[in-house]
Amino acid sequence: MNKHSENTSWWKRFMKSMTKAHDLGTEKDIMLDHDYDGIRELDNVLPPWWLAGFYITIAISIFYIVMVLGFNKYSQYDELNDELTTAKAEIEAYKAANPQLFDDANIVAFTDAENLAKGKALFTAKTCVICHIADLGGSIGPNLTDKHWILGGGVKNIFITLTNGGRPGKGMIAWESTITREERILLASYIISMQGTTPAAPKEAQGDIIWPEE
Ligand code: HEC
Repeated sequence: MNKHSENTSWWKRFMKSMTKAHDLGTEKDIMLDHDYDGIRELDNVLPPWWLAGFYITIAISIFYIVMVLGFNKYSQYDELNDELTTAKAEIEAYKAANPQLFDDANIVAFTDAENLAKGKALFTAKTCVICHIADLGGSIGPNLTDKHWILGGGVKNIFITLTNGGRPGKGMIAWESTITREERILLASYIISMQGTTPAAPKEAQGDIIWPEE
């Protein structure tokens, strides 16, 4: 017997065990008694491959009923709700850790060098320098280093000015749609950090609001 025929017989045995097919020529052994207008029926066993599939579906359905349909604690709704609860808690924690990102009333000026450097970079990048000059001395726009404010000093007021712009027709547009909230806070913080500095060519004081108050 060569290797090939061994393989063939292995395959044949496997097919036989999976199908339990009755040998051809011996049909009369499993012929049932009844006869319907000449139509006879063989009493074949159910093929094992088919039975195995049937049992597997039963096993899966039991698993499904127990694990998924709720006889067990697990449910997709619970999993979703757990994730939503976790996500909500994370959002609240983030809000608590970053109060000024969510409520104007909580805005506090940054004072650390890193954020002030970011604010300074934005002051150039967002074209503020064109009207207020790099040292904030002012040209088209007012001097931002003195205590006189047209629209209000302090981080919250400056933030609001950046958000909504100046008085109509004065040239200071509303930046809300082009500069993010955090960037506006950074810019306002930078402007505050420049309070009391002496620009090269300061524009005359404008505005009746004095801040910081004496
Ligand atoms: C096109 C010129 C122009 C540009 C660009 C500009 N501003 Fe102004 N800015 C003005 C003018 C004009 C005013 C005065 C508005 C008013 O009188 O209502 C002003 C007002 C302000 C004020 C309020 C000053 C006060 O006395 O209350 C702040 C703060 C300010 N600008 C910051 C900025 C920042 C930050 C940027 C860059 C994102 C910027 N501006 C870009 C022209 C400009």
